[in-house]
Amino acid sequence: MGQVVPLPTPEPSPEDRPVLVLDCGGQYAQLIARRIREARVYSELVPHSLTAAEARARRPRALVLSGGPASVYAPGAPRVDPGLFELGVPTLGICYGMQLMAQELGGTVERTGVSEFGKTDVRAEPESALFAGLPEEQTGWMSHRDSVTAPPAGSRVTAGSPAAPIAAFEDPERGLYGVQFHPEVVHTPHGQEVLKNFLYGVADAPPTWTAAAVIEEQIERIRSQVGSSRVLCALSGGVDSAVAALLVHKAVGDQLVCVFVDHGLLRKDEAVQVVETFEGHFHVPLVHVSAEERFLARLDGVDDPELKRKAVGEEFIRVFEEESKRLGEITYLVQGTLYSDVIESGGDASVAATIKSHHNVGGLPEDMEMELVEPLRLLFKDEVRRVGAELGLPERMVWRQPFPGPGLAIRIIGDVTRERLEILRQADAILQEEIRRAGLYRELWQSFAVLPAIRSVGVQGDERTYGYPIVVRAVTSDDAMTADWARLPYDLLETISSRIVNEVPEVNRVVLDITSKPPSTIEWE
Ligand code: XMP
Repeated sequence: MGQVVPLPTPEPSPEDRPVLVLDCGGQYAQLIARRIREARVYSELVPHSLTAAEARARRPRALVLSGGPASVYAPGAPRVDPGLFELGVPTLGICYGMQLMAQELGGTVERTGVSEFGKTDVRAEPESALFAGLPEEQTGWMSHRDSVTAPPAGSRVTAGSPAAPIAAFEDPERGLYGVQFHPEVVHTPHGQEVLKNFLYGVADAPPTWTAAAVIEEQIERIRSQVGSSRVLCALSGGVDSAVAALLVHKAVGDQLVCVFVDHGLLRKDEAVQVVETFEGHFHVPLVHVSAEERFLARLDGVDDPELKRKAVGEEFIRVFEEESKRLGEITYLVQGTLYSDVIESGGDASVAATIKSHHNVGGLPEDMEMELVEPLRLLFKDEVRRVGAELGLPERMVWRQPFPGPGLAIRIIGDVTRERLEILRQADAILQEEIRRAGLYRELWQSFAVLPAIRSVGVQGDERTYGYPIVVRAVTSDDAMTADWARLPYDLLETISSRIVNEVPEVNRVVLDITSKPPSTIEWE
């Protein structure tokens, strides 16, 4: 009889063993999940009401209790199930999360009268698990009024600050750890290393959440979801729909058909790029609908911003529906829902589908009776870009700045005509080229040209001109909720201005928008 060779146990995929971040109401809960993922460990954000039984069912590698705005003594302060601490799962409490742990586990939390806000000197014990290999003196970013004044029974103090002598504790026996400062923010220089010490050293979580692993996992999921059925995807030119389409194509090949509704409101060369990339390079079955005429006819005489949006949205749906009917019976529709949409809609990644509003693809029909395939549902935007790069999507598409569904229609004030579109496209292309040349494209949230439909007097050569102005709009932002106008270098502005007036005959003036959001919005309409 031959030797019995045990079958290798397959490694669990990163998503099967998540690090669960319990959201205790802090503004950084999402950031903690992102930082953990940057350490290549899969992490999900879950409500603080997660029960111990629910947590156990997810087989987490670790739990993290986030910060929160409340005092643990405030009425209605977010609490967690104390049973979580009995699971034997390594648990890290951050700020409020640490105080909750202390309070639940036999320590004390008090309002000492000394608060700490901002960068604070922390003395840490390099022999401790969280601070292993890190300097004894370091900076921690703090934001607290209450302090832990006695650590949980059985734990020992591993860091202190002038106002909070108990700035960290650990109980390796029970796998319980707490830090008063915020390791997830950039103002804590060694913060990411503290998180890595917790993840790799304490929780034994392997750094396997990579773009390649995501692709492999998603391909499996897509295949088992759609079987041999046909799948439809609307391409918009943006990174989300592009990456979603490529994942599905990699999984089920030509069962996928993409529809690209070219509404004629894209920037210069964008439509060509979509077609060349998908049809030419990736050989994805693609229906390219050149619908500029229809959209312009629909926009004729419409100058109200909201009516423009509505007109483009409705026309988009009409064209998309016509095309999909032509394609015959299709069961599945790809949607580029991101993890941030899932979180915002209050769901977690494992609950039923959330249908995104038109902000993604340009407004898909709500009553389409198709099942959704959402291959980006677990991913943050930066992860979508990494997956896109890994799949070979061209750099320009991977890093494309956000672009509104109604396109240039809401960057032309007043009537949208073919002539005005052409002027704006030319000016915008110059702006893009110069911003890229200056190496600033990725740093800016958005940068674009706006065409107000007014004219002013100028002089070129010996001739009086009466032409359009172009507005340069460039902003920095993290999430488009607020934005600041970008301080572009003067010499870059000069090049942009002189190139636009020299190369676009209808333009004789270039102005810069120097307003933040609020009170302005990023777009002009
Ligand atoms: P505002 O102008 O409101 O824009 O500061 C915030 C972000 O949303 C984008 N935006 C849109 N995206 N359809 C979209 O898909 C729209 O109708 C729309 N309007 C604004 C805008 O480009 C910015 O990133």
